[in-house]
Amino acid sequence: MRLTHTRWPQVLQYLQRCRGIIIPTGSTEQHGPIGPIGTDALLAQAIAQGAAERGDWLLAPTLNLGPAQFNLGFPGTVALRASTLMAVVGDVLDSLAVQGFERFYFLNAHGANIAAVNAACQDFYAQWSLGRRSTKAPQCRLRSWWDYPRADQMRKSLYGSWEGMHATPSELAMAMAVLGPDYPHDAQAQAQVTEPPLALPEGFARLHGGDNHLDSASHRAQFPDGRVGSHSALARLEDGQALMEAAIADAQQDIAEFFA
Ligand code: NI
Repeated sequence: MRLTHTRWPQVLQYLQRCRGIIIPTGSTEQHGPIGPIGTDALLAQAIAQGAAERGDWLLAPTLNLGPAQFNLGFPGTVALRASTLMAVVGDVLDSLAVQGFERFYFLNAHGANIAAVNAACQDFYAQWSLGRRSTKAPQCRLRSWWDYPRADQMRKSLYGSWEGMHATPSELAMAMAVLGPDYPHDAQAQAQVTEPPLALPEGFARLHGGDNHLDSASHRAQFPDGRVGSHSALARLEDGQALMEAAIADAQQDIAEFFA
């Protein structure tokens, strides 16, 4: 059930049987020369919607923008400050909590959201810890689709180290599956990325996990076409369909456990 397509009496009825809601979190930022700018928002939305339909859970509107200042050197990127996302997440949680929601599941598709969303959840809990709220204390959980066991195993077996960190073949393959005929295929752009990008320096992924990058000029100088160690051209529609199925199945299982 998508919240946007639901009437308020239905939400009241839903709360009688479930106190959980799914909130997809994405980003609107460059995804290399051949990847759609909306990739992260589209994937978060599609995986969350697939899981919500199977589990008959309520799906909140997707938070389409996230911290992405490091990608501002690439046209089309729209970045929130981390503090803005924290404020938005805090307001979303407050709004839903006052109506009786108690379990908040963030289905994430953008590394830089992780720190901000988790920090906002800590501030949210503090209202109970400081004795300002007397209702039952809520719980939040954030999971990124690439942390799901089946999806993670599949992307590693498909692409190995060419999965890289950004504009990954797995995310572009999944975007193909989500967008279908609307995917912005471009033969000329494709021809420019038949060669793999520079491999990531030793230890890069560990130091820069969660998109812990520097400023946009440094970032573009280091990764001139926007691929961060990812061989985007390996993306295939069939793989994307299989990855989507794995991610949705993993998400459904994790959410069922969290909402129970
Ligand atoms: Ni992405």
